[in-house]
Amino acid sequence: MRPKVLVTRKLPREALERLEKHCDVDLNEEDRPLTRQELMQRIRDKDGILSMLTDRIDGELMDAAPGLKVISNYAVGFNNIDVKEATRRGIPVTNTPGVLTESTADLTWALILDVARRVCEGDRVTRAGRWPGWSPMWMLGRDVHGATLGIIGMGRIGKAVARRARGFDMQVIYYSRTRLSEEEERAFSVSYRPVPELLRQADFISLHVPYSEETHHLIGPGELAMMKPTAYLINTARGPLIDEQALVRALKEGKIAGAGLDVYEREPELAEGLAGLDNVVLSPHLGSSTWGTRLRMAQLAVENLLAALQGKRPPHLVNEEVWS
Ligand code: NAP
Ligand code: GLV
Ligand code: GLV
Repeated sequence: MRPKVLVTRKLPREALERLEKHCDVDLNEEDRPLTRQELMQRIRDKDGILSMLTDRIDGELMDAAPGLKVISNYAVGFNNIDVKEATRRGIPVTNTPGVLTESTADLTWALILDVARRVCEGDRVTRAGRWPGWSPMWMLGRDVHGATLGIIGMGRIGKAVARRARGFDMQVIYYSRTRLSEEEERAFSVSYRPVPELLRQADFISLHVPYSEETHHLIGPGELAMMKPTAYLINTARGPLIDEQALVRALKEGKIAGAGLDVYEREPELAEGLAGLDNVVLSPHLGSSTWGTRLRMAQLAVENLLAALQGKRPPHLVNEEVWS
């Protein structure tokens, strides 16, 4: 019997073909996420699901699919999945770490440079025919080179962002749950700071922690108030790490200089007032969105899925407990 799998969005052809060799694939052919009802319906007879970060995979959904043997998420972040509920049912959950690290770090740098040098803002003015011509005191921004970068969450992506900062002669300070070894701190040229100090010292603060109950609204009114009025907040991790309403207020009141965001609290909705601000750059969750990276993510998601269905330990297992 060939296993049945649900793939909730279209993926690169090569990866799907590999999956089709081994499984009966129920693919969502439409260019939109499945509704909750569709997901509940289509998962019922499945042995595996290849899910997106936009699919909420909770206990109720798992109960709707009594034969479910694996949840393979097409993302490194897995906060869309109730991992505790999956573990309780003995269902392995997998993700796609590593292959998207460099692309997401690149995008983080696109936001840093853009917001500090007002590229998108200037682009809007230029297209609209409102450029008054070169002017000595017009559209001044802030230097990225030589500034202090504060990284919160020094994992794979945090480190890749720190590495790029060397080329801009920046001082890099960081906070992370687990402090790096002295050797690693030296190798990455980074120094550890508790969060309040980091917030007070950094010119650019970039978030790279996973989203969880623990990191919900990691940046709220109190944290924004600690930042320099000349500092920028960058978020390519997850939207709800930031209290977006508080951020809009801080940006409006000039409490901080600007923000570069790739992720939002209620994607694809934006917090009220955000889109009207000139000192923000808003990219639509593009961190991993290059041809090469999306293909590698798909291959990895398929590899994880097939391994679990064949009773082998998937290469990137989130809930180790189900295997021991
Ligand atoms: P990672 O390697 O697991 O790094 C996360 C880091 O955050 C680890 O160093 C971890 O410390 C630290 N951390 C965890 N909880 C923390 C807490 N409560 N306080 C402080 N530090 C904490 O993950 P990654 O591959 O770099 O990815 C990071 C996140 O980026 C993903 O979870 C995802 O949400 C997001 N992402 C977004 C995009 C996009 O398209 N915009 C693309 C890829 C990833 P420990 O060493 O103690 O675990
Ligand atoms: C994207 O946001 C991911 O977590 O892979
Ligand atoms: C600017 O274009 C300069 O030449 O300084």
